[in-house]
Amino acid sequence: MCDCSPQSMDLKTPRNVYLTAFYKRSFAHHTVKNRMPVILTQVIDGLARNKEEIANAHGEEGQNDLKSVIGELSKLKYEIQTNKSLRKIVSDAPDVKFYNDYITGQSDKDGNVTFFSVIWLLSECYMYRRIREAFEVTNTLKNYDPFLKQKRDSHFQALPVMAKLAQYLIEVLEKSDEPKKEDFIHLLKINLWGNKCDLSLSNGEMTSNTDDLFNLESLEPNILCDHSEKVWMAVSGAQSSAIIDIVLDNSGYELFTDLCIADYLTTKKLASKIRFYVKTIPWFISDVMATDFRWTIDHLRMNVDEYLRQVGIKWFNYVANGTWVVIEDNFWTLPVDFSYMRDVKPELYKELAKATLVIFKGDLNYRKLFGEKNWDPTTPIDEALQNFNPTKLCTLRTIKADIVCGLPQGLAEKMEAITEKWMETGDYGLIQFSEKIVSV
Ligand code: F6P
Ligand code: MG
Repeated sequence: MCDCSPQSMDLKTPRNVYLTAFYKRSFAHHTVKNRMPVILTQVIDGLARNKEEIANAHGEEGQNDLKSVIGELSKLKYEIQTNKSLRKIVSDAPDVKFYNDYITGQSDKDGNVTFFSVIWLLSECYMYRRIREAFEVTNTLKNYDPFLKQKRDSHFQALPVMAKLAQYLIEVLEKSDEPKKEDFIHLLKINLWGNKCDLSLSNGEMTSNTDDLFNLESLEPNILCDHSEKVWMAVSGAQSSAIIDIVLDNSGYELFTDLCIADYLTTKKLASKIRFYVKTIPWFISDVMATDFRWTIDHLRMNVDEYLRQVGIKWFNYVANGTWVVIEDNFWTLPVDFSYMRDVKPELYKELAKATLVIFKGDLNYRKLFGEKNWDPTTPIDEALQNFNPTKLCTLRTIKADIVCGLPQGLAEKMEAITEKWMETGDYGLIQFSEKIVSV
């Protein structure tokens, strides 16, 4: 197998350039070389395990489709491991033209766009888009979600701590009518640490002990930038008719913590509407799709635990009466950062501008917010946003990729001295806020 050394350099990513697997000592390189092929192997194994179920549901045509999907995914794994050029996506889905034009635009002088030379965001998004393509071109497996079981398992595994959190939320909401800064910030931090539970870093395993993520005191020193007071000011200073948007990340425990903060904002009348943005296709293993959102609330409202049932019923009603809205948009699964939104999806930018605050969840959204560049860690947040300023925004992210901005002088160096891998583990978190607004 190719170790891709002719195309890679034994360097760390230099400052202010795009992250790419080209630099051997980067997390991008480790991801493309090791993590992505493992994720594909797991998808293939999962499909092979479901062979009988698929045959029972779809007969011979289903079996043939399954074979073709497995064949396509094996090919994709080979293409990554041998550093082939990214081929065009072949389907009639609405995002395909953008993908293909963008791939063409990234070609080098020989017309190649290889996995180890392109911007990491493109190579990684492209893999998930190709996984989708393998299914969408079939007749019987068009809507098959290869990550469904992992998403559901992580939800089930987190139920005990979700029940504790539901009880806590109910008590906080009943304690007084007035919103309280301490309660809001507590829930915001619970929400931040929920992002440790993405399944893509852990190759689909639920590794974090969710109980620990509820114990905020011990995690406090791990928040490297904490703008929670500013987030509170933005939220509490707004009118009660405010719209707050949450660009969701992962299903399971993290989604539950998103719903808890949304409940706080709604019940305390800090917002009249919450809009949740979800992915339209299976994405980075655990990302929330509309079906996952609905399934989660349905499962909670029928749960045997009285606290889970209580919040589940309440949340179901918020969705039913339009206080909570789930919005699908394929912009979130394009292989580009958010500075492209104004041109590519101006209507989405304008919608976000209607919100008082947009909360961006997770690591991938962070990479997209800040342009997938290896910034000097002290680069001001507003500079790193590069003209993505639809409204006030906040990011809640546990650090799982080597990109960071907005840190005080010397902190990154201090972290580096503690552990070289501080940006790859999800052990450290950021709550960052920007109030710069530039309308279209
Ligand atoms: O694989 C790239 C990456 O951004 C990782 O760094 C992270 O583990 C994962 O994707 C997704 O994280 P999140 O669910 O927080 O966006
Ligand atoms: Mg995710």
